[in-house]
Formats: sequence, structure tokens, C-alpha cells
Amino acid sequence: MFFPRLPGFPPGTLSVPFLAPHQKQITGYLLFSVTTVVIGSLQFGYNTGVINAPEQKLRTFFNDTWIERYQQPISPGMCTFIWSFSVAVFSVGGMVGSFSVGVMANKFGRRNSMMIVNVLALIGAALMGFSTLSSSFEMVIAGRLVIGLFCGLCTGLTPMYVGEVSPTSLRGAFGTLHQLGVVVGILIAQIFGLEVLLGSDRLWPVLLALTALPAVVQFILLPFCPESPRYLLINRNEEELARKALVKLRGCDDVTEDMLEMKEESMKMAMEKKVTILEILRSPLYRQPIVIAIMLQLSQQLSGINAVFYYSTGIFMTAGVTQPIYATIGAGAVNTLFTIVSLFLVEKAGRRTLHLLGLAGMAISALLLTIALLLKDIQSLSYLSIAAVFAFVAMFEMGPGPIPWFIVAELFSQGPRPAAMALAGFSNWTSNFLVGISFPKLEELCGPYVFIIFMIFLIIFFVFTFFYVPETKGRTFEDIARGFSGSANPASNPSQPPPLEVEGSDSVSPTKEKVMVE
Ligand code: GLC
Repeated sequence: MFFPRLPGFPPGTLSVPFLAPHQKQITGYLLFSVTTVVIGSLQFGYNTGVINAPEQKLRTFFNDTWIERYQQPISPGMCTFIWSFSVAVFSVGGMVGSFSVGVMANKFGRRNSMMIVNVLALIGAALMGFSTLSSSFEMVIAGRLVIGLFCGLCTGLTPMYVGEVSPTSLRGAFGTLHQLGVVVGILIAQIFGLEVLLGSDRLWPVLLALTALPAVVQFILLPFCPESPRYLLINRNEEELARKALVKLRGCDDVTEDMLEMKEESMKMAMEKKVTILEILRSPLYRQPIVIAIMLQLSQQLSGINAVFYYSTGIFMTAGVTQPIYATIGAGAVNTLFTIVSLFLVEKAGRRTLHLLGLAGMAISALLLTIALLLKDIQSLSYLSIAAVFAFVAMFEMGPGPIPWFIVAELFSQGPRPAAMALAGFSNWTSNFLVGISFPKLEELCGPYVFIIFMIFLIIFFVFTFFYVPETKGRTFEDIARGFSGSANPASNPSQPPPLEVEGSDSVSPTKEKVMVE
């Protein structure tokens, strides 16, 4: 298969011969630390999925509160407004939270920031959990805002920490664990949201407040995890602490290789001045990776995935499915299953190939779903809509789900990484918000053709990925960053031919040369 070659990047980096065998090892301590940290991802997934099932209960609560206060029922318009606001305010919080990631991660460190933000989860949970006792729907809205803020921070801090502590050869697989946490969180929310469990008239506040539990667990476990060694060495200049953390994470005394690589990055950083969000946007040096990072985030959200996760029950109903809630839970299960598939494939097939495969598969599934919606009167075709949604979700998790979250940490070195994560996270949350609020209106306007819009976006992102996204698998952060400045170091990857000279490294224009991908 032929792929165009990007300046400075040899795509299809398949082997990592420069890594010592111990670096490829997964230690119990590394697993413990990463698992503790991805509780944050679980929180994001849980709070994304939790609000759908109890919609009717919340509407009833809004009405009861209104009657209690104003002695008359709430108008349908007002009720819908409060409902949509409670849903959407989560993303607004997410935008603000994700934007603050850089400042927090640099000031308090990665691990301590994660500990601190759990306080937000407790505040949010308390606001939502006590809303019925206080007869206040404003508390639901405020709680969703605070929880959004918390989740926005989690979506930056978690992938950043995971990317920084993972061995280079396993960074993709570990990075995918963030998405695995998200999808498991969504699935748990869907299941707990069933009427027979916590989605009942009486228990829905508990369903919303349950997010406090993982927050407490994570808060207790985080002190046993190390601070990111990269942060300790590069940001704090604490060489001994960094070495100790690495020794524990890698499970061996000889961590010279990792230390050398970090020191090299550190020296380079000492020569650069501190990178702020504005500088990332202005500097030609970062233009290419930041455009790629933002486009990948947009490809994740404008693929329409959350049209499915927010509104699938309605979509299934329109398509004539008799038990839509179970089809929705089925979508959550397929979502989880394929994230696991991707976890095992990402270090073999590479990020770029999986992302392309996922986008293409989603475009085809969107077309199938359109056909199913057009032919909904034929009863047997209601199964086609289920199959199409399942395929859409499965293909999403092959690439567009997990990859954008962790590739941003890979595209930037330590200096610009926090600011880049903030910008990328902000783009993700903003596009998430836009799809969330506009989908019902778009569905009204376009009817069964609504998924064609996403299909067009998917094709555009496929073309972009094909031409501009480099392979980052098996490459050190330093090497990747050097690739963007047009001087990728062939020595770090002897199996690849030397990079091309870059004309105007400040642009994302590819060269015409084609190279073989193994
Ligand atoms: C990704 C997206 C999130 C979506 C989820 C579905 O994590 O960021 O918005 O709901 O995948 O699995």
C-alpha cells in the first residue's frame, strides 16, 4: 500500500530496534498508575452517558419544582429549555476546563492536578445529588457545569500523564486506555440508568451523584502513583526524583535510555522560552502539528459519534426498532469491544492506518444508516439501522475514538505539550457542543438524510489524514517534534530512509514522494 510521505516523517515506522527489551515491559506499578489515572476517563464517559436515560424524570422534577414555586405547571417550552440547558452546560464546563489544563499541569504537576480536580467532582455530585431535597433545578444545572469543568480537565490531564509515563513502544496501546475508560464509563451509565436500577423516579439523583465514588477512589490511590518523570526532570529539574519514579515504573534499575532521551528534550527546552497558547498559535514552528491536532479532534467529533451517543434511542425509534433502549446499550457494548480491538492493533497497524480505516468505515456506515432510515417502512430493515449504527460505532473506536486523544501528547515535546493539549481539548469540546445542540434541528431539517452531513465531513477528514497526518508509532517525542521542524533524526530509527528536506516547515503541505509502508 502506498502513502504519500510527509516532510521529515517516514510513515509506517514498524519496528523499534533502538529500545532495550526492558523498555517494552509492562510492570505492575505502571499498570496500577495508569489504571488509577484513567478513572478520570471513566468519569468523562460516565457523565457523557448518564443524562440521557433519566430525561423524563428530570422533566417531571422541573415541573414539580415550578408548581411548588409558582403554583402553576411549567410551560413545555420552558421545560425543554431547562432540559437542553442542563445537557449542554456540561460541554460549556468542558470547554473552560480543557482550556485550563495547561496552566494547572505546569503549576501543580500532572498527578497533583488530578488529585485537586477531584474536588470539583465532589462539588458537582453534591449539587446534583441534593437537588431534589432542595427543590432546586438550578442545582442540577450548576452541578452539570461543575462536572463539565472537571471532565474538561480530565480529558487533558489523563492522556498527558499516560503519554508521559508509558514506554515509547507501548504509548499507543496505553493511550487507548484513556478511551477504554471513556467507553466503559458510558456503558456503566447506560446500564445504571435503566429504570430498574438507578434510573427510577426516586433514585435518579443518586445516578447523577454516583460520580463522587470514583473521585474518592482516585483521590485515595493517586498518592501511591508517581508524578510524571518527564515533568519532574524537564519542568522541575528534579533529576533524582525522576530517576526513582522511572525505576519503579519500568521495574529495573537501568533507566539510562529514558533519562538520556528526557535530558535531551530538557536541554532543548532550556533553549526555548516558555510556550503559551498564543505562542503555539503564532509560531510557524508549531503550526503544522497544531493544525493536525485540531483537525484530528474535529474529525472525532464531526464524525457524528455523539449524535449516536446522545440521541441513539430516538434514531432507533425513527428507524422502527421496537426496543430502542436495548439497541442503545448494544451500541455501548460494541463501543467497548472495539476499543479493546483497537488497543491490540494500534502498536501493530499504527495510528495513521487505523484512523484512516475508521474514518472510511464510518463514512460507509453513515451511508448504510441513511438507506436504512429511508427504507424504514420495510419492517425487516429496522435491523439494518441497528447494524449500521453498530458498524458506525465499531469503526469509530478503531481509530477516530482513541487516537485523537493521545496523539496530541505525541505530536508535541514537553514545552508546548500542555498548551497544545489545552487547545486540542478546547476544539474537541466545542465541536462536541455544536453537534450536541444542532443535531435535533438538523434532523428536523434533513430528515433521513441527516447522516449524509457527517459522511461528507468524514470524507474530508479522510483526505486530510491521508495527506497530512504522520505516523508516530514507535518514535520518541523528541524525534516526532524534530520531524516537524524538518530534521527528524534517522539515527533514532535506522530502519527508515533519511527524511526529506522540508520546504517551508511552517506549512502542512506534503511532498509528492511516495514510500512503501510495510
Ligand atoms: C470519545 C469522544 C466522546 C465520545 C466517546 C464515545 O471519547 O471524545 O465525545 O462520547 O468517544 O465513545
